Amino acid sequence: MPATVIVGAQWGDEGKGKIVDLLAQHSDLVCRYQGGPNAGHTIVVGDETYKIRAIPTGIIRGKPCVIGNGCVVDPEVLIGELDEFERRGHSVDQVYLSGNAHLIMPWHVAIDQASERRLGNLAIGTTRRGIGPCYADKASRIGIRVQDILDAKILRQKIEVALAEKNLWLERVYESEPFDLETVAAQYETYAQRLRPFVTDTSLYVDTALREGKDVLFEGAQATLLDLDHGTYPFVTSSNPVAANAATGTGIGPNRIDRVIGVTKAYVTRVGEGPFPTEIDGDNQQRVRELGGEYGTVTGRERRCGWLDLVALRYAVRLNGIEQLALTKLDVLSHFAELPVCTRYRLRDGSETEHFPAHQSDFHAARPVYETLPGWEEALDDCVTVADLPAAARHYVEFVEHELDVEVTLIGTGADRERVLTRA
Ligand code: IMP
Repeated sequence: MPATVIVGAQWGDEGKGKIVDLLAQHSDLVCRYQGGPNAGHTIVVGDETYKIRAIPTGIIRGKPCVIGNGCVVDPEVLIGELDEFERRGHSVDQVYLSGNAHLIMPWHVAIDQASERRLGNLAIGTTRRGIGPCYADKASRIGIRVQDILDAKILRQKIEVALAEKNLWLERVYESEPFDLETVAAQYETYAQRLRPFVTDTSLYVDTALREGKDVLFEGAQATLLDLDHGTYPFVTSSNPVAANAATGTGIGPNRIDRVIGVTKAYVTRVGEGPFPTEIDGDNQQRVRELGGEYGTVTGRERRCGWLDLVALRYAVRLNGIEQLALTKLDVLSHFAELPVCTRYRLRDGSETEHFPAHQSDFHAARPVYETLPGWEEALDDCVTVADLPAAARHYVEFVEHELDVEVTLIGTGADRERVLTRA
């Protein structure tokens, strides 16, 4: 199966990095197609922990990695990662950066922060990494792209033009400090010198790889319910994590994608604001948070925790064309005698639905209808195959498959990279 998209099926942090890391072993190339340093993948390899925000996870397996045109790039973060990987003995010679990706500039970060402050109670709860303002400039056709770093004169000119407007906004609207042209231009020229060798026609590179029959993985960042078009707007990110965007975000035809694997936790987490029907009441929420280590990789924020929501997952299956699911962190549920799983929502008029509400007010008011499954209360540490799982854990997995009509082919049972059971 040459082209496989790995997509988050919930609100992010499903453990996509770990699944990509596993599948990358048998792949020739790993590509990111959207998002920026708002993403955070944590991979545990023996005693080493890798936290990655910009470079595709395939770097750990020594695979060529593409940062596609659909991504936004904070040069400081990217360079920090390149340096860190080199220091830890990984080659970065095969990192390919699209010239059409957009650069996150210091004013994007400043505006993201100032705008969240101004929104007060209505804040989105962004990662404050400048993602939204950078994509907004892209859509307004005033962004600065990676290819602009190839020419020092053009880069400086673009920074000058942008700052003339951004400083007005910062000072007059957001009452924030303006940026100094000379300082930003010098800083970005230093970044440019480091990043120039990585700039590539990545659309051509990925297409050529596919034509040569290579196995290519497309690594989604964030997730379906954070999708700008299909997620829980406005509590979403500013790009399209859904699988179809793997084509647009890397510059290949949609018919080149062969397989979509959705990644879901065995429960749900969400960071930031917004409705969350299955958010757990009472002490069990903190219990899941502690057991699952549910604190943000990028921001360190506490993640909100909920029971598995099959209505939302069914929606993700539909939007992405998911045929296979990777179910991660099943071990976290080992500590509960009973496990509620949401199979339907009850709407304001009292009716019940198994489909995700199309209207935001219906979603806000939706109440989860649970089926309670038996827990297993046994550690999964010694499970080497699916057959070793306690019967109730296997039942949990089969219940998900039956409700969604998809196969669960991978099951995560612990943080380490080895702790994934394969089912297909
Ligand atoms: P932004 O992407 O920083 O603009 O944040 C918008 C929303 O997406 C916020 O609710 C963030 O918490 C959420 N978000 C962004 N990236 C991630 C991620 O990698 N995991 C989980 N949530 C994320």
